[in-house]
Amino acid sequence: MKIAISGKGGVGKTTIMALLAAEFKKQGRDVLVIDADPSPHMAQSLGIRPGGVTPLADMTRLLAERAGKTPGSPFYQLNPKVNDLLRDFMLEEQGYRLMVLGAIQKAEGGCACPENHVLRKMLKKMLLDANEVVLLDMEAGVEHLGRGTVAGVDQLLIVVIPSRSSIRTALKIKQLADEVRIPRVSFVGNLVLDKEDRIFLAGGLGAEPIAFFPDSRTLRKAERQGNAVAGIEAELDRAPEILARKIQEQVQAV
Ligand SMILES: Nc1ncnc2c1ncn2[C@@H]1O[C@H](COP(=O)(O)OP(=O)(O)OP(=O)(O)O)[C@@H](O)[C@H]1O
Ligand SMILES: [Mg+2]
Repeated sequence: MKIAISGKGGVGKTTIMALLAAEFKKQGRDVLVIDADPSPHMAQSLGIRPGGVTPLADMTRLLAERAGKTPGSPFYQLNPKVNDLLRDFMLEEQGYRLMVLGAIQKAEGGCACPENHVLRKMLKKMLLDANEVVLLDMEAGVEHLGRGTVAGVDQLLIVVIPSRSSIRTALKIKQLADEVRIPRVSFVGNLVLDKEDRIFLAGGLGAEPIAFFPDSRTLRKAERQGNAVAGIEAELDRAPEILARKIQEQVQAV
């Protein structure tokens, strides 16, 4: 199962992905988290030493080779070997495997082309056994969808908070996700206080989010102190558990 997350800036994508990673780990699943945000933050949310993992972007020469970029040519061949990347750039800690894409190396046209090319290939070619879950955390907004980076995922979660602007972005992301034919796209509510918030979200989105995360004092505190978010699921109205179950049900329904 390969799951990506998107949504407007600061709506809680990384937090929800980390909570989902913790939930799947608790269930005994084999969890690989890929941090594709140019300002990576996932290691901290999972309680992993940030310095322990080599970002893919630090390996630009290698990436250019893998992506088949010949010097002076803006084109990449279409067959980067991805299997050994999985081994070389993965950190195993706290029961998770973590891969970090790293700071964007702006190439011509301002695109992180080698990194995204390798990521796209990786997502498409990675073969998973039934117990494996790949969780892809991404930067805010719609760029990744525009580049087709996430075309290889089975499911896209769009995090949305009860505000008009967040709903607008979520709908735009949904439209693009449908265009690049991601098989399942679901909304996930965050910072949802009450029934009024739920109704506002469902009305604005035209669909019911599959899980609602409350505003949690403990989560905010954990972030400020640089602590992992795992272990505080109890305070979250069982939202991580519900989200994991809904994802599972949707995968089985296909
Ligand atoms: N349910 C919640 N309750 C309380 N605080 C939350 C909740 N979800 C997220 N936050 C806080 O909101 C802030 C932003 O969260 P997070 O970094 O997960 O968002 P993001 O969407 O990944 O942001 P970015 O777009 O920058 O990647 C963090 O300080 C986080 O602790
Ligand atoms: Mg984030």
